[in-house]
Amino acid sequence: MAVPAFDRVVMPRLVLRRLVPEDLEPLVAYRNDPEVARYQSWTDYDAQRGRQLIEFMQARQPGEPGWFQFAIALKDTNALIGDCALRVDVDDPRLGEIGFTLSRPHQGQGLGTEAVKALLGYVFGTLSLHRVFAVTDAKNTGAAALLARLGMRREGHFIENIFFKGAWGDEFQYAMLAREWAAR
Ligand SMILES: CC(C)(COP(=O)(O)OP(=O)(O)OC[C@H]1O[C@@H](n2cnc3c(N)ncnc32)[C@H](O)[C@@H]1OP(=O)(O)O)[C@@H](O)C(=O)NCCC(=O)NCCS
Repeated sequence: MAVPAFDRVVMPRLVLRRLVPEDLEPLVAYRNDPEVARYQSWTDYDAQRGRQLIEFMQARQPGEPGWFQFAIALKDTNALIGDCALRVDVDDPRLGEIGFTLSRPHQGQGLGTEAVKALLGYVFGTLSLHRVFAVTDAKNTGAAALLARLGMRREGHFIENIFFKGAWGDEFQYAMLAREWAAR
């Protein structure tokens, strides 16, 4: 059965929706926060990069092979407070990877957990993926706690498998199967 075009996922405090041009300023602001960027792939995140991301996502649908970036917005105001992503495996579209970022003022309130819960619900429910994984820096305690809180299983601790921002780093891999999500 064909999947309907993505519109939004509504949660008690949040909405996952498409990125729109109006998101550029808050997106660049939180991605440039060194605390937010510490365990992420980018260092300096400029407006051109943000604009390219927003434009690139306009023509994409989650579930297509490759990355789709979802906006995380407050339900009451529609203001962008973060983003999360799904990467569908190009060789087997039943497999996916997720990522997530929340602006600093919105951390510590359970909003990240709420957003990733919405993402997993969409990925396993609407998109019917079989398995989802996430990779975090082993020092990123907030991200690891969030994934564990949602029932994802720590499957791997990779020792110094990435040279990252000037040093070798360890990473954790977390994963979950569709039947484990359904049984939660
Ligand atoms: C990863 C990240 C989203 C985690 O943010 P977070 O605020 O720790 O996670 P949550 O939004 O789920 O909030 C959980 C915290 O809110 C608290 N909380 C408060 N109210 C809550 C509520 N109503 N429901 C649930 N938790 C609540 C929890 O107790 C927890 O606090 P603790 O960390 O002191 O135990 C955030 O650190 C981030 O964006 N970092 C930068 C980007 C990044 O590294 N991304 C991950 C790459 S893999």
